[in-house]
Amino acid sequence: MSSAVKTIGILTSGGDAPGMNAAIRAVARTAWGLGINVKGIYRGYKGILDEEIFEMDHHFTRNIITKGGTALLTARCLEFKEEEYQKKAADILKDHGIDGLVVVGGDGSFRGAQAIARQGINTVAMPGTIDLDIACTEYTIGFDTAVNTAMEAIDKIRDTASSHDRCSIIEVMGRDAGYIALWCGLACGAENILIPERFDGNRPKLVYQLINEIDSQKSSSKKHHMIVNAEGIGHSYGMAKDIEAATGVETRATILGYMQRGGSPTAKDRVYATYMGSLCVDLLAAGATNRVVGFRNGKFVDDDIEDALSMPKKDIDEYELEMARRLGRR
Ligand code: ADP
Ligand code: F6P
Repeated sequence: MSSAVKTIGILTSGGDAPGMNAAIRAVARTAWGLGINVKGIYRGYKGILDEEIFEMDHHFTRNIITKGGTALLTARCLEFKEEEYQKKAADILKDHGIDGLVVVGGDGSFRGAQAIARQGINTVAMPGTIDLDIACTEYTIGFDTAVNTAMEAIDKIRDTASSHDRCSIIEVMGRDAGYIALWCGLACGAENILIPERFDGNRPKLVYQLINEIDSQKSSSKKHHMIVNAEGIGHSYGMAKDIEAATGVETRATILGYMQRGGSPTAKDRVYATYMGSLCVDLLAAGATNRVVGFRNGKFVDDDIEDALSMPKKDIDEYELEMARRLGRR
């Protein structure tokens, strides 16, 4: 069967995520298998406008599946939200013979993909972000690695916190989404999990509740107390100070930060990225455009980008939160 596209460009955009390299590898190798030429684009949409476009060869895709980050580098490009630059980008892609594009990124990047599709370049996107905050998919590439990386770090903090009978606040990534915090909190047996989805903006009230809990547990034999806090709530150092002052329990805060975005991807991230990358190319070869692939109800799926972006974000499962609360109470 002949392919609907002759040359596929691939870019990674927005925050990097472990597993993006597996996606790049899968896209390129699937395309080559179908007789499609592959061009790499460095630094996302910025790289199109700067014409950082190169002929990808087999060497580029070797030994990257194990690596974190993205071999294509990534960037944010605010001007790309303007139609003038989207037109310019499509012209540049056409000049380079690119008639199909794969975008790996979050939902901001999907909007960019939609814009390129509107300019006549067949475009398919796939979800790459550690935050797991994309409505159309139950899985985003990078989440599993980020959670495992944070979990290992939190386990280490627990060792020292319990040795000193301390309270620890560990801040994990997730500016708008609490999935990393929820999973780390559950996996590490945290007493409290603080997520932006359940934060009303009243920090003194939140700290007051934590102080009451810590005070009420003082008589228990377990002295240390672990709080996993999401970046979207933040203020971990201030909270630690307030808790220590009010309870007398030594309290330390650790902000894990960007270590969560790096590192060798887990098997899950590699395999999901491989599957999704391969699917993107099959869709382009079949003539599809303006699609985004995802994973729902146990299946890899694809949706129109417009539909995907208008899906309501699934709220964090209340049962999961209640379960975490019950298990956190001793
Ligand atoms: P993510 O893809 O992880 O959500 P961003 O929201 O920062 O990250 O988006 C990444 C890039 O996608 C932006 O820097 C911009 O180039 C592009 N982008 C975001 N929103 C739009 C939009 N509305 N129209 C076109 N391009 C967009
Ligand atoms: O990639 C998602 C994410 O890690 C968010 O959790 C975080 O808020 C954001 O990226 C920070 O990204 P940057 O500092 O690179 O803009």
